Amino acid sequence: MDFKVADLSLAEFGRKEIRLAEHEMPGLMAVRKEYAASQPLRGAKIMGSLHMTIQTAVLIETLVALGAEVRWVSCNIFSTQDHAAAAVVVGPNGTVDDPQGVPVFAWKGETLEEYWWCTDQALAWPGGDGPNMILDDGGDATLLVHRGAEYEKAGAVPSATDSDPEEWHVIIDLLKRTVGDEKRWTKTAERIKGVTEETTTGVHRLYEMFKNGTLLFPAINVNDSVTKSKFDNKYGCRHSVIDGLNRATDVLIGGKVAVICGYGDVGKGCADALRGQGARVIVTEIDPICALQAAMDGFQVTTLDEVVGIADIFVTTTGNFDIIRADHMAKMKHQAIVSNIGHFDNEIDMAGLIKTEGIVRNNIKPQVDEWIFPDGHSIIVLAEGRLMNLGCATGHPSFVMSNSFTNQVIAQIELFAKTEEYPIGVYVLPKHLDEKVARLHLDALGVKLTTLTKEQAEYIGVDVEGPYKPDHYRY
Ligand code: NAI
Repeated sequence: MDFKVADLSLAEFGRKEIRLAEHEMPGLMAVRKEYAASQPLRGAKIMGSLHMTIQTAVLIETLVALGAEVRWVSCNIFSTQDHAAAAVVVGPNGTVDDPQGVPVFAWKGETLEEYWWCTDQALAWPGGDGPNMILDDGGDATLLVHRGAEYEKAGAVPSATDSDPEEWHVIIDLLKRTVGDEKRWTKTAERIKGVTEETTTGVHRLYEMFKNGTLLFPAINVNDSVTKSKFDNKYGCRHSVIDGLNRATDVLIGGKVAVICGYGDVGKGCADALRGQGARVIVTEIDPICALQAAMDGFQVTTLDEVVGIADIFVTTTGNFDIIRADHMAKMKHQAIVSNIGHFDNEIDMAGLIKTEGIVRNNIKPQVDEWIFPDGHSIIVLAEGRLMNLGCATGHPSFVMSNSFTNQVIAQIELFAKTEEYPIGVYVLPKHLDEKVARLHLDALGVKLTTLTKEQAEYIGVDVEGPYKPDHYRY
């Protein structure tokens, strides 16, 4: 088996944590039981690009339990948990000397070149007859296949220019080496039955491609299952934003002024968490609806420029770019903490910060840097501007990821087993499946659900068994 991880000897530790996580992931374990006999993913060759954590290990082993062949990478250079990666490679029945699990190409602290090399490896199926499914988080695997196929069609790979980000140069270099007469990427795109996308940012890319007519295979938007974005993005970040801040800095949050940029699902969870710790939270927004929500939730809402000099902690949650610029960072208080929990690192202008004249980088520990300005004041940047909850801590806990990943497994089954029902487009799972995912997580929390009477169901115009809400309901 081909693979590349940091240290296979961490597998035993990883396996112990996977065992604990399985108990906290009732949705995934129920799906394993439900489909054990029918094996709906037999024949599926799934390339996964999603943070290689303990929770993801349980997802991977669920896909395998349903019959899939899997190859995996992380979707961020800092998010791999090395013991999880090792345990997945060794597998539940293998040993360090005889690994029998799943090929993983991921370790914590990859360079950008290594990151894209890993993605390429996981897409290069032995024998050349796969993958036929992608499970993506942020859309990097989908992007590589699409750009490869596009440049093969055009017959050339364009050169990156000086104004392109460093990462684009890396991607172009990789495509220059792999785009060719054998039409590897074109064939890969043709083989792929579909992609299931985990996050807001990746979904945004998919809708753009569909709109432009460039999407090459159908996609299921897992993010917009209610049991994903209204849980993982919100309650997951409510947990893991604090974890990231604590592990990185251990600074007391109570009494501090914290700015949360963006009040979508992630922003709501982060603002709630920091308020829970006693911080005085200020929100920035561009959307009047979200701004009004933040105000009615009791937060001051203003612009970053207004408060940049008085805040102690900054967290960007927008999925947009250039939210905190270099000139903002220059105006911050001494040792202000600057972090991003959105998918990509361009929410904070790290390139601009690095170019600031006379600035000095003082590495405190992995994923924590003090940047000292010429006037002597400094700021602390977490995870080099990449998502801090996975870069500086361990991301979301198992229970909330069980909701997200149960949606992922159901979406993979839908696209793989019912391919003809999904012409090229971007779909969300039907509401009855969303409700099913929630239902699978109620017992573990001791939730007792009220059952509608037949008369009540008729009165509100639903079926006793659900779905209970119309598709446009917003929760
Ligand atoms: P969302 O679309 O619900 O929220 C983003 C909010 O930011 C919106 O309300 C938007 O109006 C606001 N916004 C956009 N530009 C802004 C600007 N210039 N200034 C202030 N506010 C601005 O998206 P969601 O689901 O909250 O996701 C946000 C990001 O977090 C995405 O990149 C997503 O992929 C990522 N994500 C990260 C997770 C993690 O564990 N680190 C988990 C889930 C999502």
